[in-house]
Amino acid sequence: MPRPRVLSGVQPTGALHLGNWLGAIRNWVDLQDSHDTYFCVVDLHAITVPHDPARLAEDTLTTAALYLACGIDPQRATVFVQSHVAAHSELAWLLNCVTPLNWLERMIQFKEKAIKQGDQVSVGLLDYPVLMAADILLYDADLVPVGEDQKQHLELARDIAQQRINARFAPRDAAGESIPVLKVPEPLILKEGARVMSLTDGTAKMSKSDPNEGSRISLLDPPELITKKIKRAKTDPTMGLEFGNPERPEADNLLGLYALLAGKTRDQAAQDCAAMGWGQFKPLLAEAAVEALRPVQQRYEQWRQDSGAVAAVLREGEAKAAAVANETLERVRQALGFLPRS
Ligand code: AMP
Ligand code: TRP
Repeated sequence: MPRPRVLSGVQPTGALHLGNWLGAIRNWVDLQDSHDTYFCVVDLHAITVPHDPARLAEDTLTTAALYLACGIDPQRATVFVQSHVAAHSELAWLLNCVTPLNWLERMIQFKEKAIKQGDQVSVGLLDYPVLMAADILLYDADLVPVGEDQKQHLELARDIAQQRINARFAPRDAAGESIPVLKVPEPLILKEGARVMSLTDGTAKMSKSDPNEGSRISLLDPPELITKKIKRAKTDPTMGLEFGNPERPEADNLLGLYALLAGKTRDQAAQDCAAMGWGQFKPLLAEAAVEALRPVQQRYEQWRQDSGAVAAVLREGEAKAAAVANETLERVRQALGFLPRS
């Protein structure tokens, strides 16, 4: 039996933060032993909003190095850059032509990002989920580990594969049974960490695009900065930390972060901090964050010291990824009736 496939990716837009780590990448690490894993840096997605060409390449390398620093092992996982495998763009085009426009117009993330950009919204931003579907479907992924915010995009990828490709274009075998063209993927959204909220607003998710740097902790923030950001994080006037009180989103978020970063169960963390004031809790949280990120930052420095090391991983990843992706692309081209290429 081949091992089930996993594919996921993060955009190279600035430094990754605790939400990316705890919501997504941390789960990737655990899957490497049991699954055949593909992790890409989705640089084509990064240009769906205005981007700085002087930074794209460097941010792409940084993101890949952070995957490795977080524990992705290039001996076991295939790590690559999305735009290095041309099949992603090509399959996206094929899928574009079978995806109804109104499916894209109802995507929550599109609506949220579009509001911020007024009349400057690109076609690419609308098309973002189709490119993401192509990323996933090219690898016949069984599982896609992502944070909660990507659930709707995963549903869309499933619908495109099932209703728009398989249901319409699957060839039939000798017995008349249809042979699916694309594998229909499942999301993997772990509850803990799936939604890490902003440090300055417990009701908004921690995000790379928040203009306030103080709202997030980047994986490469030095210890003093982490401590400062946590010190300034929003609190409330109530004593004692607790989960699940709708009036206290900040308490819920920071206590959840503490549990994850200190390696405690939620119950244990809730018990330990039930009687603590904010003044006592915050230094504890800061220390847990600094300690949890220390090994990540050390490994990051090691990877970046050897300037060719990350690029070499990406080159090898590209070759492995392209072999799988090109095969799937050819299958889809055939099902859609294209003249085979030589
Ligand atoms: P992005 O930064 O949008 O490229 O997201 C990359 C991955 O991190 C996706 O799987 C997201 O679901 C996840 N992610 C992003 N922000 C958060 C957050 N605040 N909490 C949990 N997961 C997140
Ligand atoms: N849209 C995802 C995000 O912002 C990133 C992404 C692109 C992705 N392609 C993917 C995630 C394929 C999982 C699988 O988080």
